[in-house]
Amino acid sequence: MRTLDHQHQPHPKSPMKSKRSRTTIWLTLPLAAGLALTSFAAIQDQGEPITPTAAEPGQSAEDLNHEMFEKNMKGLMRGQKALRKLIADPTANQAAIMTTLETMEKNAVAVYSLTPPKPEEELSEPEWALYRITYKAQIVEMQATLLRLQMAALRTDEEALQDGYKALQAHKKEGHDQFKFD
Ligand code: HEM
Repeated sequence: MRTLDHQHQPHPKSPMKSKRSRTTIWLTLPLAAGLALTSFAAIQDQGEPITPTAAEPGQSAEDLNHEMFEKNMKGLMRGQKALRKLIADPTANQAAIMTTLETMEKNAVAVYSLTPPKPEEELSEPEWALYRITYKAQIVEMQATLLRLQMAALRTDEEALQDGYKALQAHKKEGHDQFKFD
């Protein structure tokens, strides 16, 4: 079993040791920067804007909302598909799982601020307000699941990753059932 005890033991100050750890930091920095850039490139590669861009000339605010809604839902779908394969090996795929979850989190934050399509039946103003709040509440639940998945990925906890994945599927089903999307 791994313990973290050694981190709590005071160790004598040694100039040699701190010099070596400084060197390690300088050697690690470019590597970390490279990794960060790779993750950034992976996110960019998905090619879809996550936050609303300016409307095209002649595009109504409603159409822009709808466009961004679809793009971010599609982003969630791509993330979910990638995740399903990646979590089969959380140790080998830890970095890719984190990048995927980070993008999904951005998609979830974006859809939180967008307006779901209005249902066909007539709604009074307070009913429509409640509808949007119920929608936001479900998105917040999904965000909580995405954060739990990130913690599971950091611990390389395969069981928690599988559970989180199932919870994501349930959020999708519940959200789509309740907000009349088939
Ligand atoms: C992992 C979770 C989810 C995935 C993978 C997902 C995926 C999708 C996809 C692929 C679409 C179709 C986009 C298009 O028009 O091409 C969509 C639409 C939609 N989703 Fe989700 N979704 C998820 C979670 C949710 C949740 C939690 C809610 C509600 C709280 C929700 C509400 C909606 C609504 C209302 C639409 C219809 C948008 C429209 O007709 O314009 N989704 N989703």
